Order: sequence, then C-alpha cells, then structure tokens
Amino acid sequence: HPELKCCQVDLDPKSNVAEIIPGLVDELFSNNNENQVAIRDGSRYVARLVRQQKQKLSADQKLPILENQPVELKLSEYGLIENLDWKVMQRRPPQGNEVEIQVKAVGLNFRDVLNSLGLLKEYYAEVLGITNVSQLTLGFECVGVIASVGENVSQWQVGDEVMALVYNGFSSFVTTPATSVLAKPKDMSFTEAATLPLTFATACYGLQHLAKIKPGDRVLIHSAAGGVGQAAVQIALQAGAEVFATASPPKWEFLKSAGVKNIMNSRNLDFADEIMKLTSGKGVDIVFNSLNGEHIDKSFDVLATEGRFVEIGKIGIWDRQKVMQKRPDANYFPFDIGEEIQQQPDLVGQISDELNRQYEEGKLKELSYKVFPSTEIKDAFRYMQQGKHIGKVVITMPETGDEPKSSETGDEPKSIKPEASYLITGGLGNLGLEVAQWMVKGGAKHIVLTGRRNPNETVQKIIEEIEEAGASVTVLLGDISSQESLSKILEEISASLPPLKGVIHAAGVLEDGLLRNLSWQQFTKVMSPKVTGTWYLHEMTKDLSLDFFVCFSSMAAMIGNGGQGNYAAANAFMDALAHYRRGLGMSGLSINWSTWAGGGMAASLDSSQQKQLEKSGLTAIKPEQGMQALELLLPGSSSQVGVLPVNWSEFFRQTPTAEKIPLLSGFVSSKPAASTIQKKSSFIEELEAKAISERMELLTTHIRSMLAKTLGLEDAQKIGMREPLFDLGLDSLMAVELKNRLESSLNVTLSSTLLFDYPVLEKLVKHLADDVIPVKFSEETDEKDETENVEWETDDSSTDDSEDDPTRYQEMSEDDVMDLLAKKLESLGG
Ligand SMILES: NC(=O)c1ccc[n+]([C@@H]2O[C@H](COP(=O)([O-])OP(=O)(O)OC[C@H]3O[C@@H](n4cnc5c(N)ncnc54)[C@H](OP(=O)(O)O)[C@@H]3O)[C@@H](O)[C@H]2O)c1
Repeated sequence: HPELKCCQVDLDPKSNVAEIIPGLVDELFSNNNENQVAIRDGSRYVARLVRQQKQKLSADQKLPILENQPVELKLSEYGLIENLDWKVMQRRPPQGNEVEIQVKAVGLNFRDVLNSLGLLKEYYAEVLGITNVSQLTLGFECVGVIASVGENVSQWQVGDEVMALVYNGFSSFVTTPATSVLAKPKDMSFTEAATLPLTFATACYGLQHLAKIKPGDRVLIHSAAGGVGQAAVQIALQAGAEVFATASPPKWEFLKSAGVKNIMNSRNLDFADEIMKLTSGKGVDIVFNSLNGEHIDKSFDVLATEGRFVEIGKIGIWDRQKVMQKRPDANYFPFDIGEEIQQQPDLVGQISDELNRQYEEGKLKELSYKVFPSTEIKDAFRYMQQGKHIGKVVITMPETGDEPKSSETGDEPKSIKPEASYLITGGLGNLGLEVAQWMVKGGAKHIVLTGRRNPNETVQKIIEEIEEAGASVTVLLGDISSQESLSKILEEISASLPPLKGVIHAAGVLEDGLLRNLSWQQFTKVMSPKVTGTWYLHEMTKDLSLDFFVCFSSMAAMIGNGGQGNYAAANAFMDALAHYRRGLGMSGLSINWSTWAGGGMAASLDSSQQKQLEKSGLTAIKPEQGMQALELLLPGSSSQVGVLPVNWSEFFRQTPTAEKIPLLSGFVSSKPAASTIQKKSSFIEELEAKAISERMELLTTHIRSMLAKTLGLEDAQKIGMREPLFDLGLDSLMAVELKNRLESSLNVTLSSTLLFDYPVLEKLVKHLADDVIPVKFSEETDEKDETENVEWETDDSSTDDSEDDPTRYQEMSEDDVMDLLAKKLESLGG
C-alpha cells in the first residue's frame, strides 16, 4: 500500500520531548519520500542499502597485497583514520630476556584513536621521543602464540598461548620483554582474551594495588561500560564494594545486566547530586576516573574525607599541586599502566597470577566486545572514535604463511570449533539441515537441532549422514517461543554437551495474506518463533560467550513482499535484535535471505508466486551459494546483511514501483538504458501522440500486456475483453501488484479496490480512459459519453450486474469490500 505513505521516524532517545518535536513536525510535513529516518544528536539519517564488498566480508581472508607476509599497522600522516594502513614488516628475533609472539588478536584502546588523530603528538614527542609519524606504533595489548624465545627465557615455550602489554600490538609478530607477557586463561578464545590485558591490568592496579579496595567501600566508576570501566566494575563487585557507575543512557541496560544498581549519566554533571542523595551526603570512598573537565571537579566534590582518587586519564587532569591546594586530605593516584610496568618489572607477573587465579575460580570473566577483522581496521577505529562501543573492540589479525605450532589446534579466527556445541533452531527444516551439514564440514562436532515435530524419514536419513561424517547430532524437541521448552533445551545442552558457542535461529513459519485479511491468530503464529522465540533465545544465552548469534531473516523485512506483512514484521524484529545485541557488545547478525532454491519455505510458494519470483530479476539462492555467504559473514562485524542474487536492472524493469523505495535508491542507476524505461513511464505522452481514434486500442494493448505479465501469461491475447479476471487466476496479491504497475506506468493514483470494482479488462480500460487518464479518447460530446457508459454497463452479460455495479461499493467501507472480496475468492477457490 504505497499510497498510505507509512514512515518510520526513530527519534533520539537522549533528547527530551521539547527538542524532539520540531524535527518530528518537519519530518511529518515534508514532501520527501524517505520512509526510514533516524534523528541522532541533531543529525538526520536515512536508510540506504549498500553493496558489501566480498573482500570486506571475509575475516580470515588474507590481506589482498600482503598475502602471507607479516604486516604492521602504520599511520602515513597524523590527523585522519583514513591514513591508517597495513605495511609489510620485518620480524625481529628475540634477544636474551625477550620473546616473539605471533599475534592473533589485538584490543583497541582509545589511546590508539587519539594517536591516529595526532592528539598525543606533543606528549609522545616529549616523553617517548617520537618526533616523526613513521616512528609511531599502535596497539597496547595483544594475544597470540609464542613463536620464539630468547636464550635467557625459561618460563615460556614456543606454542604457549599468551597475552601481552606492548607498544606495537597491531603487528603480525611482536618482540617484547618476557616480563610484559601474561598467561592466557586456558578456556578462553584469543578474541575473548584480547579484552583482558590492559583493562584488567589497569583496573586491578588502580583499585587493588593503589586504592586498596575493601569490602563495603563505595566506589564511583566513570565510563563504566567501557573496557577498563567494565573490568573495574567486576573487580569492585568482587571485592564486595558498592558501585556507583556513570555511562551514557543507551549503555545503562548493559550495566544493569552486569549487576550495577546505581547508574548515572556520564554526559552531564547530575551524577554528583545523585550520589550525595544516594549516600545521604557521605559521598564515595574511591573515585575511579577517566573523564575530564568539570567531571573531575564534581568527582572531587563527592569524594569523602581522606578518600582515594584513582586517575587513569591523560588530558586535562589535575596535577598533584592542585590536589594539595583543593583537597589536601585526598589520596591522589594518577598513573599510566605502561610506565608503571616499565618501572616495576614484576608487576605484570603479579597481575597475571591474580587474574588467572580469579578467572579459574569463576570470579572474573571476559568483557563484552565487538570483533573487527584486520581488513576492517579503519571501521574499528571509527567505531571507537564515535563512542559506540560497550566494552572492548577487538581486531583479529590475518594469518601469515609462517605459523608457529600452537598448543591448541589454532582455531582462530575461524568461527567453528570442534570443542563447542552449536544450536540450530528450526534445525529439522530445510535450511537448518543445510547449515548443520556445512558446520560439520567446517569442523563442528556437536550439533543440536530443534523443532516441534519429530524428524521424518528423510530428515532422519540426513541426520545419520551427518553423524557418519563424525559429528554428534542431538535432536531436542520443543517450541522455541515457549520459555519453558527453551530453558529445557539449554539446560540439556549445558548438562551433557560442550559449551554452547553459536546459535543459528532458523525456526519460522509462513502464513501469508493481505494485511487487511490477516487474523490476529495468523499474526501470532508467524511472530511467535521470530519475536518471542528470538527474545527468549537472546535472554537465556546472554551470559554465555557466543561466537555468533545468527538470525535467519528475510528480504521481506528489508524491502517488503506483497502478502507477507506479518512475516516482514516478525523478521524485522530479528533484524533489530541483531543491532541491539551488537550495541551491547555481543555477537549478533541477521541475514535477510531472499528465496532459497530446493525446498523449505520456498517450496510452499505456489506456482504463481514462484513464477513471479523468476520474472522479477531475482534468482533463488542455491544451497552452496547460501553457505558460501554464511561462511563469509559469520566472522565479520556486520549486524544486518541482505543476501539476494539479483539483476537490479531487470528487477526495476519488472517492478517499477521499487524505484520509489528510498532504501534501494543506490541501485536505481543500474536500470536499463533510459529509452526502455522512458517508453513505460511516458506512456501518457505516447497516447497523446496518437490520433484520438487510435488511443483506446493502444491503452487496451498496454493494460492487457500488464495483466498478462502479472498473471504470468505468455500470450496476452488469451485475455478476453469480458473474461472475469479472477477466473484467469488473478488473486488479491496480484491485484495489488497490477494496481501498482498501472500507477507507475500511467503516473496516477488508483483505488486499492480497482480490480474488484472493474474485474474485466473491458471495464477496466473504460474506467481508466473515462475517469482516470487525463487524455481525450473520443471526439464525442460528454452527453454521448454518458450514454455509452450506460450501454456498456448493461451490455455485460458475463457478470452479475448487481455484484459488479461499482456504485454499489461506493456505499461500502474498504474493509467491507475486502471482506466481500475474500468471500468471492473463497467461492472461486482462490
Ligand atoms: N527458505 C527460504 O527461501 C527462506 C528465505 C528467507 C528466509 N528464510 C528463513 O529461514 C528460516 C528457515 O527456512 P526453511 O526454508 O528452512 O523453513 P522450513 O523448512 O519450514 O523450516 C523451518 C523450521 O522451523 C521449525 N519451527 C517453526 N516454528 C517453530 C517453533 N515455534 N519452535 C521450534 N521450531 C519451529 C519448523 O519445524 P516444526 O514445525 O516441527 O516446529 C521447521 O522445521 C526461516 O526462519 C525462514 O523465515 C527462508
């Protein structure tokens, strides 16, 4: 129903109502076609589909020019993230007390971003003697495998999996003193471990070593949803302290889930009054600060007498003299963990032991994070620059040809692990089974398939084949939209299988129909697995550290599909949830598939729908193509991707209304040569150029050919002038499609009941000529026209006059007409 002009406006949650209203009013009264608009920080954003480069899709793909060579990240000029690039590097063999690490993943820090923007240029020149950008290295922490050791190193062996605090982590190989190396917790993946070194070292040193945190302390942690902030929250809660946290409002939900009760806004200064209120004027014992400007003054205001102020910031912080003047009672601890480590060689060892002990006791866990492959390094820097992240941003490094032997099988950064379990909901369906087979080929050993019904014989056979290929397949029956069933399924996995590391949510059902004809029950049926089911899956797995959480969504949610309003809405929920999860720093991907070949839901399309697809410029996805796409997308960082084999020019030619969908505007240029389109869109001009006496014939041919196209008929002449269109197979969906086609080619707006008011070609053409198209079709007088009208109406013997009298419908509401139509279709078996 394009005529309804539905539009979504996503308003800024941070703004108050008075700020929102003017923008909203502008949006409502504007004449633009945009139907997906978001307002953030006073800027207006519109949604556009963009092509994702294949090269960008792959995480463990080698860097194009540098294949098999060790690389390091360099900045060509200060000031722009654009100036970052990977360059070939020289490895340096370790001397004496050094080790060489082959880097698997790197934690990005805000200081890397400041460095690339040149904001620490002077500090670096002064403290580190870095006067030229070519001397600058990036990456303060890395995780990897020991590749070689110096002659005096005994505590590390080649193949050990380690974390390290370094200055050049963004390198394939890093040579560093053995004292800066920590043991990687055994059960953690490289990407998970990359969230730990600097964050926990900083939080642990600041809170435990300097502030000597103890049970009952009240601690204010600023930017608590950031990497160091999250680590500080874990350490403070673990110590039995009471935490007061600040963060921007979109991150509050995350902090709540981390167990923080007192959460305040980091974007203004209200936190000070709130803390004084919450502590009955006592203030806090410890401030853990990373903010600057007035936030520092206010934080000192809420620091209790003889409190401890831990400062991890760099720019604009108070010096000791100022503290002495303003708060002589306070214990002030500004520090830079890198400098502390240099001065205290044993520090890393102490922190490493402490960290591993607490991790093994289950007291600490990895932080939430978002992964970017090395090919998307600039996106990762920008993501952090925009403050979008919660927890850490982790970059996985490309493989080089020269791999050291790891004590593990070297499973990073591939997404499938043999020692993990994978849950596929709807796993007994067509795509679920395809995915299961693909996963097992990729090394998975433990697959769980769910569905509500027992597998039939064919499915059972496929399961046996998967098991023969060396994997265990567990079928757990249950309704994914029932909290109880899902909880049983997850309990069963946790009790008897290796840790769950990935979810593919492919459960779904179809129940198509025109929006106005859909009953609520048809809605809930389709929504249950995709809305309720997806939410429960998210809620019940959110404390697990999943490598992927993939929703099988549909193109219907991205660009719409006639008769699938309920299905589009259900899938759109999954799309939104994937974005939401990424926003929380968790894994999340929603794939808007177009139709797949070979069974499953596509098989339930009736033949006319299948024909419609074929002629629309879209090709069905072959299973091997789909799996290839999944393989490329799984390790990437996108939240939502559409996968559709499409010939855009054919698509727009066949569906001219799609040209008006703003989301697709980037592809409209792939329309065929203007001449073909011109002919369609300027049909009125063509009519006008004809002699009046020839116009009716031209219009009839045009409408007939559109009808034939919609009905999927090769020969338009088969459509008789008086043959009821519904007898020819026209159904309610086709009626909408034909109406849209006509609107586009005639440049007019038509009633949604057009085809029901004029259900034979002769009547339709006549109505369009007489009442709609602003072109003369007859030299006759108006009087004559009216007579002709009457004659024409009475002349029709093929239909029941009483039913097809258009004036009859003028008395009825559109809903009444649609109900009537539904009954009529039913009686025709349509
Ligand atoms: N095939 C396509 O062309 C296509 C295109 C775009 C998107 N998709 C999406 O991809 C997914 C898989 O499609 P498909 O072709 O494999 O469909 P399918 O063969 O019909 O499989 C879907 C499976 O979901 C299960 N299911 C439905 N509701 C459930 C519930 N409440 N709890 C647990 N299981 C439930 C069904 O089994 P039970 O009835 O036994 O529960 C069925 O086996 C769907 O979500 C679909 O929306 C498919």
